[in-house]
Amino acid sequence: MKKLTERAEIEQLQNTLVAHIPNDWALVTAGNIDSFNTMTVAWASLGDIWWKPVFNAWVKPSRYTYEFIEREEFFTVQFFSPEHKDDLVILGTKSGRDCDKVAETGLTPMDIDGKVTFEEALVTLVCRKLYSQPLDPAGLPEDVVNQYYQDGEVHTHFIGEIVEAYVKE
Ligand SMILES: Cc1cc2nc3c(=O)[nH]c(=O)nc-3n(C[C@H](O)[C@H](O)[C@H](O)COP(=O)(O)O)c2cc1C
Repeated sequence: MKKLTERAEIEQLQNTLVAHIPNDWALVTAGNIDSFNTMTVAWASLGDIWWKPVFNAWVKPSRYTYEFIEREEFFTVQFFSPEHKDDLVILGTKSGRDCDKVAETGLTPMDIDGKVTFEEALVTLVCRKLYSQPLDPAGLPEDVVNQYYQDGEVHTHFIGEIVEAYVKE
């Protein structure tokens, strides 16, 4: 894997990844190789704030991964080729709280400087958590609340500064 640390390289990578998220999804992973969890996300985005390249994720507190993201200073984000979509379905429908769901996939966890990614990931973003705040339903239109938050469990917005990226060679 090639490690990217230059801001210009990271921003260029962001541009190529933007279109992938809604259709191809991504994984958000947090913890270390001895204790981590990962989940599929589709409601996520790449952008800039405070002149920093960032990854935004919206994660419900009931997800086991949420506990790891909340606890850790960093989280990582993985992008895959379409052949791994079945793996992302498993990781997005089963909880690491109930089973070793990664073992049910074809993915191979690996350590990167104390964080975790997967050997099969085409791209891994290493994100430093800058912000974590539940969405306030009072600031949302009624149709969104009615459609998505009838049960009262709102997403928490995480902003992670992309400090490094790894690209599979
Ligand atoms: C395609 C897809 C996209 C998803 N996107 C999100 C998301 O953006 N935010 C979220 O909180 N859950 C999302 N989920 C649901 C979680 O991935 C799912 O609840 C997962 O089982 C949580 O695993 P965990 O309990 O091991 O963390 C998505 C699921 C799928 C299949």
